[in-house]
Amino acid sequence: MFLTRKMIKMERPLERPQIVEISKSIDEAEGIKTVFLKSDIKARPGQFVMVWIPRLDEKPFAISYSNGVEIGITVAAVGPFSNKLYAMNPGERVGVRGPYGTTYHLEGKKIVMVGGGYGAASLTMLAEEALQQGIKVKFILGARSKNRLVYVERIKKLIGSDNLTVTTDDGSMGIKGYVTDALQQLLKKEKIDKIFVCGPDKMMKAAAEIGLAAGVKGEISGERWFKCGGMGLCGHCCVDPIGIRLCVEGPVIDFETAAKITELGEYHRVKSSRKEKIGVHQTEV
Ligand SMILES: Cc1cc2nc3c(=O)[nH]c(=O)nc-3n(C[C@H](O)[C@H](O)[C@H](O)COP(=O)(O)OP(=O)(O)OC[C@H]3O[C@@H](n4cnc5c(N)ncnc54)[C@H](O)[C@@H]3O)c2cc1C
Ligand code: FES
Repeated sequence: MFLTRKMIKMERPLERPQIVEISKSIDEAEGIKTVFLKSDIKARPGQFVMVWIPRLDEKPFAISYSNGVEIGITVAAVGPFSNKLYAMNPGERVGVRGPYGTTYHLEGKKIVMVGGGYGAASLTMLAEEALQQGIKVKFILGARSKNRLVYVERIKKLIGSDNLTVTTDDGSMGIKGYVTDALQQLLKKEKIDKIFVCGPDKMMKAAAEIGLAAGVKGEISGERWFKCGGMGLCGHCCVDPIGIRLCVEGPVIDFETAAKITELGEYHRVKSSRKEKIGVHQTEV
């Protein structure tokens, strides 16, 4: 049976952009900022909004804060759109529509979040919801170096330092290595009911494989180039070979579905739809 939005009490997304003001922005890490928008869009963890900058483009962003009067999006400045958004000041306006996409599903008594770079955005909101439901939360947070880590203090405040494991590729903070190494260690030591993963493609693929091998359920939040973003019309975000639209049937998908996507960690489609091998940037957020 298909569940309708009404049955699962989800907000109906805006179909046209709401023109909203930037209320503030805060530095999270080197080249990464959270931009707060005066918007009453109510989103669940895992969902995304399409942000429109007139005469430039429209791009999807995960929601990292939402309180009914403001939403926060955490922006890594990597290209034309994100650099522009990163540089915008309070008082300037953008268009925003949404929320779109699937959400994470909380279950069990103890869960672990595995976040790479700005991937920790939606997971931190999910951790807040889990704690409200009495679920114990562990967090593995990684980046290539200390100055690229986001939300360290926010997560510590939420779950306490003992429940946070930090990894950096260069060893400049926490354990030297990848979040997936820390995940493997944790699963050997503790009974975890579900794993939630968001970050670069290759990291999510590896985490899903680890979870499946250990028999632990989990979900990832996939990222592809969204054109109509959330409308489900253009097919640009369909993934090989199963063809699901990541902007509608995703971005949150379970480990079993992720395992069927052969392009995960291998290639993605650029704006023109040409396939491009996933290179360094996808592993180095
Ligand atoms: C569901 C979803 C949620 C998203 N959430 C966020 C979010 O919370 N925060 C956020 O910053 N972005 C997020 N993105 C990505 C965002 O939509 C843009 O793709 C991103 O900002 C780059 O756009 P651009 O036009 O600035 O650069 P592009 O022109 O797309 O890319 C410029 C250059 O940067 C490289 N690049 C692209 N992505 C990355 C990356 N992640 N790290 C390093 N280099 C990269 C490209 O290969 C290219 O060389 C999300 C995407 C999806 C599909
Ligand atoms: S981006 Fe158009 S269907 Fe997903």
